[in-house]
Amino acid sequence: MSDIDAMKAQLDEIRQQALDAFAAAEDSDALQALKVKYLGKKGELTGVLKGVGGLSVEDRPRIGQVVNRIKAELEQAIEASSSVLEAKAGEARVAAERIDVSLPGRNRPRGALHPVQQGLDEMAAIFEHLGFEIAEGPEIETEFHNFDALNIPPEHPARAMHDTFFLRDTEDDEPMLLRTHTSPVQIRAMQRFVAEGHEPPLAVVAPGRVYRCDSDVTHSPMFHQVEVFKVDRDVSMAHLKGVLQYFLSAYFEKEVPIRLRPHYFPFTEPSAEVDIGCVFCSGKGCRICKGSGWLEVLGSGMIHPNVLRSVDIDTSIYSGFAFGLGVERLVMLKHGIPDLRLFFENDVRFLRRMGA
Ligand code: DAH
Repeated sequence: MSDIDAMKAQLDEIRQQALDAFAAAEDSDALQALKVKYLGKKGELTGVLKGVGGLSVEDRPRIGQVVNRIKAELEQAIEASSSVLEAKAGEARVAAERIDVSLPGRNRPRGALHPVQQGLDEMAAIFEHLGFEIAEGPEIETEFHNFDALNIPPEHPARAMHDTFFLRDTEDDEPMLLRTHTSPVQIRAMQRFVAEGHEPPLAVVAPGRVYRCDSDVTHSPMFHQVEVFKVDRDVSMAHLKGVLQYFLSAYFEKEVPIRLRPHYFPFTEPSAEVDIGCVFCSGKGCRICKGSGWLEVLGSGMIHPNVLRSVDIDTSIYSGFAFGLGVERLVMLKHGIPDLRLFFENDVRFLRRMGA
């Protein structure tokens, strides 16, 4: 065989190998590697061309032609294989991403606000609507804010009645405690207001957690209160009663009768406990209102001048009303929840039923 025939045979073999390899390539990376292997600068075809030096001058261009033809053919074959591979990859992706729209959806469990939080939000919204601003105070309080400033001096029997959790009670530290009510927010809000140089009116609603060392069927060591107060010129019991009437009817979403019964609180004078007409029997008398037709819902009164004085508000110009209510109790009455402990057991059946 002449040199040129041997070379042609060699080229033909490379051509056939390359075509077979392209057709068998599994993906475009493999195809790319084959392209380099056969057509690259250091590839097989170029390798054969290195032998042209041994050919006669007439044979050289012939071999050149053959190589160029094979090159063009292989390039075309690569193109073809490449589109086949791309189409296959596309089909595979479509298959992998196929979703069965007839499958039932996967439900994500949805959380809901705790009924006590719902109650707090509803109550705060009613007072905000009336123009009261929301204030908060710390749950770890000083004796001064929780008691002294609220006209409950150290030896006052009301201190004992509050079942206080004390946190620190050493000689040199100021005693700290878990607030037993939200009334200390009255003091903090008024102090801040005065310190900022404002003059009344001041109208505040203060929702929050309170703590008492007391636990039985109707008492939990942690519960929630909403404190409401307003200080201005000429504030009277009539304003107190008007706000209570509006609030209680708005909260229970029906016109509820209310009555004020004289009572004693150290931080108000005069003081009154507030009853609503029983929401279960509409005042006729039932087991829940113990036949009286009335349910006690909160404590209230005219802010004691000593309280206003403790924060440097001039009692010759200003007066105020205040009241404080237990959130759990009102939520129980509104929704007919029979047992306080349901709020704290976190039984999802109860929480789901109450979930908003
Ligand atoms: N702080 C009282 C308590 O926890 C509730 C209360 C009664 C608040 C009368 C008031 C009020 O503002 O005027 O038991």
